[in-house]
Amino acid sequence: MQFFKIVTFLLPAISLSSAQAGPVPAAQNGAAIIINECNFPVYYKSVASYSVLPNTIPAKGSYKEIYRLRIVNGTLNDNGTVNGYLGGISIKISPNQNIANSVNESDAFDASTITQFEYTYNPNAAPGLWYDISNVNGYLDKSYTGWPFEEFGGLVLKGTSSDCASVTCPPNNATCSAAYTLWDDNRTLSCRNNNSIILTLCSIVSDPRGLETGLLAGNSGVVANNVLPPKATSCLVR
Ligand SMILES: *[C@@H]1O[C@H](CO)[C@@H](O)[C@H](O)[C@H]1NC(C)=O
Ligand SMILES: *[C@@H]1O[C@H](CO)[C@@H](O)[C@H](O)[C@H]1NC(C)=O
Ligand SMILES: *[C@@H]1O[C@H](CO)[C@@H](O)[C@H](O)[C@H]1NC(C)=O
Ligand SMILES: *[C@@H]1O[C@H](CO)[C@@H](O)[C@H](O)[C@H]1NC(C)=O
Ligand SMILES: *[C@@H]1O[C@H](CO)[C@@H](O)[C@H](O)[C@H]1NC(C)=O
Ligand SMILES: *[C@@H]1O[C@H](CO)[C@@H](O)[C@H](O)[C@H]1NC(C)=O
Repeated sequence: MQFFKIVTFLLPAISLSSAQAGPVPAAQNGAAIIINECNFPVYYKSVASYSVLPNTIPAKGSYKEIYRLRIVNGTLNDNGTVNGYLGGISIKISPNQNIANSVNESDAFDASTITQFEYTYNPNAAPGLWYDISNVNGYLDKSYTGWPFEEFGGLVLKGTSSDCASVTCPPNNATCSAAYTLWDDNRTLSCRNNNSIILTLCSIVSDPRGLETGLLAGNSGVVANNVLPPKATSCLVR
């Protein structure tokens, strides 16, 4: 079995000063959105502190989850801050079409190369949201001859405001320099937690705000809204 490491998050120890724009309240949290522009389904697991079963985003479909707070060990204060340790969320994504035909889809997913859309919502520190794209588990044999969506049109990650720097992984580039390739790269970005960040697979798009408006209007193929796979079980991070 392949165990994935969520190692790419370096939570900066930033203390709030009056000069910095603090995080906005959790009620205003944006969302992590994936738009599947591929002409095939992709498989994903949205992983916090327990293992989950894989789900599918159909061709031209999408997935959305409002930023989740992950308290690894600690307590939530009345004012929305946390005493203790925070962790990140990793939405693991694979284009491996053999997953659907496997006897054990979860095991087949875990054995596949993945691209990870990672974020941490941190109510303690400005600007409140950290995010990245990681291909660290995109080259299981360490060959670095192509990350999972490299041959299918690449990907782009954009925020709903220009405060959120974007990540572009162009197609037909064996490694994506804007994403984590090695665990000790430094590719984590941040912006305020009331922005949404939108990952488009297999296409480079220019209008993330329009895409989100379309999603919120309900005329899209949103397959999940902040809903974890129903058979989530309690387990260690993988
Ligand atoms: C959680 O934090 C408390 C206080 O620091 C510590 O005593 C406890 O061992 C921690 N638990 C785990 C599971 O790490
Ligand atoms: C939030 O509450 C905690 C615990 O009461 C306190 O230590 C912290 O200073 C408060 N933070 C803010 C920004 O009000
Ligand atoms: C798939 O295998 C895992 C162990 O790797 C097991 O926990 C799970 O129950 C299996 N799922 C099915 C549907 O057999
Ligand atoms: C594409 O890959 C080459 C090396 O393989 C690299 O020099 C170049 O910067 C990459 N282009 C982009 C846009 O990342
Ligand atoms: C990562 O890069 C940012 C600027 O892009 C820099 O401020 C930060 O110190 C770097 N972190 C490490 C661990 O190198
Ligand atoms: C986020 O909140 C700040 C402070 O209230 C506000 O200025 C900004 O317009 C908000 N951004 C979004 C995308 O709603």
